[in-house]
Amino acid sequence: MGIANTPFLTFLSLIFLISIFSSQASADSTQFLKCMKSKCLDSVSISKVIYTPINSSYTPIYEYSMRNPRFNQTTRLKPQVIVQPVSESQVQTVVYCAKKYGMRLRIRSGGHDFEGLSYSSTYDIPFVLLDMINLRAISVDPVAKTATVQAGATLGELYYWIYRASDTLAFPAGVWSTVGATGLICGGGYGPLRRMYGLAADNVIDARIIDVKGRILDRKAMGEDLFWAIRGGSCSSFGVILSWKLNLVVVPKTVLSFTLFRTLEQNATDIIYAMQSVAPKFPNELEMRMRISTIQSNTSARADGKTVEFAIGGLYLGTGGVEAALKIVQSTLPELGMVKEDFVELTWIQAIMISSFFNLFDDNYKPEDLLDRTFLADIPTKAKSDFVREPISKKGLNGFWNKMLEVGVGETTVIFTFYGGKMDEYSESALPFPNRAGTLYMVYTRVLWVGNTTEKLEWIRSLYSYLAPYVSKNPRRAYSNYNDLDLGVNDPTGSIGYLDARKWGKQYYNHNFKTLVMVKTRVDPENFFRQEQSIPTLSLWSDM
Ligand SMILES: Cc1cc2nc3c(=O)[nH]c(=O)nc-3n(C[C@H](O)[C@H](O)[C@H](O)COP(=O)(O)OP(=O)(O)OC[C@H]3O[C@@H](n4cnc5c(N)ncnc54)[C@H](O)[C@@H]3O)c2cc1C
Ligand SMILES: *[C@@H]1O[C@H](CO)[C@@H](O)[C@H](O)[C@H]1NC(C)=O
Ligand SMILES: *[C@@H]1O[C@H](CO)[C@@H](O)[C@H](O)[C@H]1NC(C)=O
Ligand SMILES: *[C@@H]1O[C@H](CO)[C@@H](O)[C@H](O)[C@H]1NC(C)=O
Ligand SMILES: *[C@@H]1O[C@H](CO)[C@@H](O)[C@H](O)[C@H]1NC(C)=O
Ligand SMILES: *[C@@H]1O[C@H](CO)[C@@H](O)[C@H](O)[C@H]1NC(C)=O
Repeated sequence: MGIANTPFLTFLSLIFLISIFSSQASADSTQFLKCMKSKCLDSVSISKVIYTPINSSYTPIYEYSMRNPRFNQTTRLKPQVIVQPVSESQVQTVVYCAKKYGMRLRIRSGGHDFEGLSYSSTYDIPFVLLDMINLRAISVDPVAKTATVQAGATLGELYYWIYRASDTLAFPAGVWSTVGATGLICGGGYGPLRRMYGLAADNVIDARIIDVKGRILDRKAMGEDLFWAIRGGSCSSFGVILSWKLNLVVVPKTVLSFTLFRTLEQNATDIIYAMQSVAPKFPNELEMRMRISTIQSNTSARADGKTVEFAIGGLYLGTGGVEAALKIVQSTLPELGMVKEDFVELTWIQAIMISSFFNLFDDNYKPEDLLDRTFLADIPTKAKSDFVREPISKKGLNGFWNKMLEVGVGETTVIFTFYGGKMDEYSESALPFPNRAGTLYMVYTRVLWVGNTTEKLEWIRSLYSYLAPYVSKNPRRAYSNYNDLDLGVNDPTGSIGYLDARKWGKQYYNHNFKTLVMVKTRVDPENFFRQEQSIPTLSLWSDM
């Protein structure tokens, strides 16, 4: 650190900055397009998957996988070129030509990025959108209990093809079917099976990636350090994921599902206060989570008729049926007042579709709906996350609910997801996602991006400040898949990365951030793969 201020290094950094600016100045989409046509073996077929703003299909193609409408009409930079490759060699050509002609890359699979970074840029630097949607083949081997998934597949597509192959196999990932399998794995990825089988990233056996040199590398060729990094440490900092080989896990033919609704007037605060210590210690076969929202209710104790509603949901995958499940909950959480009738028996695929997210789905939905990439409504939101390691006091919880009541009914949603179980068996550094042993639950907070959005942004920031004393500290943790540009952004030139990035880097990855920086420096020393919150390279004047 000390030597960083010497004139010699300042001079070096100046040269480096100049060279970066000059390479940006040469960014040239015309040359990029020429390169694509000349390097691709079949120039006719490549022209069918390249879109520029002059093509009338550019906007529909761009918006098709824009899963957060908050980014629909922003002043952000859009891609100069969109490419939707149909073969791996076309992806290689995109990387080669973008690098050669100074175009940056944004890589999109499911398009759910919380900050829209997979398709838009807050930097004024031209970029190519590499959209993986056409590379989404899935093959399931029920005997070996594995699946091979191309990068562009959604969770719904993965779940559907697993279901077609077996009624007792599953992949432990999230429940929102339009989320991309790749983006989810790239940040760790948790879901209803986390307490039995850990994260999605824990169940990845192999991966294929294109590195900055355009080489296709599998696990053996990329090395264990890079294979570790891409399972939760942000893939787009390291290359382009082509496909994953996944370990499938065994689930019962039928499972028990429940969703109970409680309001503040039904002593919900007492229930949640107790639940914080109890739910992370349930047997691994029982998982619980909770969606918290504000409603208008004629039983409200408030003059304005508003109250907070808690949808307490989960699954039981253990033996002994309803009696066994009920006994666990009644003996440890009597405050909830759970009864036999709260349980519904469902097949695994029904559990994923019907119950898994607090009765959001209807009985009439068919497994084929999982294949529909626009099946679920896209909601414009701004969100944040936290991890809780000590139970929040009743006073703290009451203050939380009061903050929620500050915005209009239905304008905010909070989700608590209880950890423990298998999650506790991993050390912080097992994978880049560090929130394992000792984590009680994750908190997701979001506000609807409607009405006066300046006010909405101020409100969610004030909620974040309010929660500070009650959540993890030093660093205050956040989930990298719930990325939040309020935590900090890289310098657009990518040249003074580490020191600036350390603040948010430690929030997402804690001590693993340093390791990620080392891996990044080895595999992409010139920092070609970069965006607002990519892993920086280690440069001469950093203090590592
Ligand atoms: C409604 C909703 C529900 C969610 N539920 C869950 C949940 O239950 N559990 C959970 O863990 N998370 C959940 N998430 C978070 C989700 O995991 C992240 O938003 C994830 O990044 C989305 O992946 P994607 O492929 O859809 O997004 P994209 O926007 O396509 O990509 C996200 C990031 O991954 C990079 N990336 C995408 N494809 C590639 C590739 N082929 N190679 C290299 N980098 C790539 C992008 O550049 C970007 O940085 C949810 C998000 C939403 C909006
Ligand atoms: C976009 O327009 C260019 C120029 O007219 C054309 O060559 C190309 O094929 C078009 N792309 C698609 C996907 O139709
Ligand atoms: C974006 O906004 C336009 C104009 O209001 C609308 O037609 C389009 O459907 C929107 N797209 C998305 C993805 O929200
Ligand atoms: C809430 O708690 C109070 C005091 O413990 C109790 O009297 C009341 O019956 C409870 N209400 C409900 C709905 O459980
Ligand atoms: C309160 O609302 C419920 C359903 O929302 C309704 O069934 C009930 O009759 C209402 N009670 C009063 C007193 O208005
Ligand atoms: C939105 O809210 C901000 C902050 O409260 C306020 O300053 C601004 O005037 C509001 N804008 C509109 C259009 O109402």
